[in-house]
Amino acid sequence: MLFDLRPKERRDELFDREEELEILHRLVGSEWIVILGRRMMGKTSLLKTFLHEVDGIYINLSGVRSVKGLVEELMKYARKLGVEVSVGPLTISWSRLAEDVFSKFDGKVIGFDEAQDLPVNYTLKLLKKVWDTYDIRIIFTGSMVGLITGLLEPTPHSPLYGRQPAKITLKPFTHEQSLEFLSKGFRECKLDAPLNELEEAIDLLGGYPGWLAYYGNMRCVRRLTHKEALEQVYQEGKQILLEELKKFLESRKIPEKYIKLLKLLPARWSELKNAMNINSKVLSDMIQNLEKAIIIEKKGDTYTIPDPIMRNLIFEL
Ligand SMILES: Nc1ncnc2c1ncn2[C@@H]1O[C@H](COP(=O)(O)OP(=O)(O)OP(=O)(O)O)[C@@H](O)[C@H]1O
Ligand SMILES: [Mg+2]
Repeated sequence: MLFDLRPKERRDELFDREEELEILHRLVGSEWIVILGRRMMGKTSLLKTFLHEVDGIYINLSGVRSVKGLVEELMKYARKLGVEVSVGPLTISWSRLAEDVFSKFDGKVIGFDEAQDLPVNYTLKLLKKVWDTYDIRIIFTGSMVGLITGLLEPTPHSPLYGRQPAKITLKPFTHEQSLEFLSKGFRECKLDAPLNELEEAIDLLGGYPGWLAYYGNMRCVRRLTHKEALEQVYQEGKQILLEELKKFLESRKIPEKYIKLLKLLPARWSELKNAMNINSKVLSDMIQNLEKAIIIEKKGDTYTIPDPIMRNLIFEL
């Protein structure tokens, strides 16, 4: 069911994303891959669906901050499969044990979901060794912090320098796709929703598979009215995006300048330069950071906040 709130795991449950699946199949043999995308964009669904097709291994690393934690997750998975992993003497190092566990998955594709919190250098060294030694293919998802930044922007000292992973950035559905998504979902649950309600939902929530599915679920399963469902999803969406924005701002030296900049959008470079009163280098760094975090994007020569929930949220700050 399209409006199911769990991540999708099969191609016939997944709406669109054919192109991304094709890219994954094409690249996985030769490259590490990072799947990027905002919250609720469908990263886990894409990863799980792909892993299902290649008989891969899904490991959720949400909240895992150490190689020890990574190994424990892999061992849990190995045990579920009935694969023996020798724990060895107590003094054995975690990276040795990690290699031992990885060796059990030779020939497999492993998808690490939410991999951003792992320690950068240690993990990269380990994974590079695994990559060089075994026939193991790796896909990551996560936000553009920590390990993911380390993967995509390696410093010259990084074991990955000169061999950056391929990046797949998940985009929101277009207006037409969103309309088709909602119409199909409502047909599945046999609920007749007027076009103007669907249009209103898309205008307020944007082309996020997750928010659209949640809205549909609130109507079809919880039987809320259009207005109630929209209000609930919008408020929850706002909370999640506010958390994301806070996390982004926490690591900035001049958070208040970022808010000022965001409030000026949509705007062109020259308009921002005049209004912000900062030098070009600082402005260009700020814009780059916001683009990397997928908070803003450039359309023609105008910078915009593509996500309607984020746009309203910033307006209200
Ligand atoms: N392509 C799709 N087709 C149908 N449903 C989808 C699609 N992508 C996502 N969904 C639905 O949207 C919701 C969120 O998807 P998912 O958990 O995959 O997103 P995510 O990007 O991993 O989110 P988070 O950032 O919270 O981890 C789920 O209900 C899922 O079923
Ligand atoms: Mg996810």
